[in-house]
Amino acid sequence: MTDKKIDIFNQISLGYVVIESRKTDQWRSFLVDGIGLHLAQNTKELMTFRMDDHACRLIVRHGPAEDVVAFGWELANLNTLEVIRSRLKQHNINMTESSGSEASARGVENFWRIRGPKDIEFEYYTQPILDDTPLKTPISAFETGVGGMGHAAIISRVPDKMLNFFTDIMDARVTDYITQAIAGVTLDFTFLRFNERHHTVAIAASQGVKLDPIRTRIQHMNLMVETVEDLTGALQRVRKLGYEIAREVGRHPNDHDISFYVVSPSGFELEVGWNARTVDEANWKIQHYDRISQWGHKPQNPGLINFLRVNSVNFWNGILSLTRKEHSPL
Ligand SMILES: [Fe+2]
Repeated sequence: MTDKKIDIFNQISLGYVVIESRKTDQWRSFLVDGIGLHLAQNTKELMTFRMDDHACRLIVRHGPAEDVVAFGWELANLNTLEVIRSRLKQHNINMTESSGSEASARGVENFWRIRGPKDIEFEYYTQPILDDTPLKTPISAFETGVGGMGHAAIISRVPDKMLNFFTDIMDARVTDYITQAIAGVTLDFTFLRFNERHHTVAIAASQGVKLDPIRTRIQHMNLMVETVEDLTGALQRVRKLGYEIAREVGRHPNDHDISFYVVSPSGFELEVGWNARTVDEANWKIQHYDRISQWGHKPQNPGLINFLRVNSVNFWNGILSLTRKEHSPL
């Protein structure tokens, strides 16, 4: 059976992200006092954070990974779920349903899980639990809506397989490409969208031998805010708290957003962005850019010592990655 005639583009958004860390106090301070999220639940095992009327957008659970461990994908309805289920079945992948406390901790009625690309759990759901109590946050508003809660950038050693997963199973569309040399390695970025948001996933891969110099599954995740004051306020707060600004304010040439990157307590970066353009499907033309930033995005700590500190670690991680097999469902 083929259902390729059914197109589920525009029926998927990034709904929530699960992080696992032992540094829960640091994460709470980072997200609440720094970025400006609303703390909803706070127990020993679990903290949940709100950005809008969803009961939960970010979950930090206590555990050793120091990484993003799951993406929650919000689907338009059960038909969308059935399309994904039948496509996965053709690859002998079965979804496992979860409900009860595991689902309510994520702010959903129930969800269906698979072991996704790069060992990130992919959790599909249709029913978010909503909460209309006002947010306690210095941010005027986070930009969520049909575009979802933000995006993630993932380095892959099997980028074609990862791309196929997103385009064949979830009907993602390629928005554009960027090629850029970073620390002596040339990286190709492919930006993918599931809806009007310019991208929800960016796949990065080194040219030639495929290296993965980053310890964490994702390189960064992004949250979008509504005003420039939201952006500058968050920057001032995380800086005051002493978090390292991986990249100062700058602008990307493809989605046009203005953003900064801060190093999170688990080591991957969090990008706060503002004013990204959306995609007009009727007139969009795929372009290839030759730089990741139009202006800005300079590291807070330039200089040789910092370069060696960061890149000697990355160099060894990159070499070690050659010995590891990256999980791909397809
Ligand atoms: Fe980004």
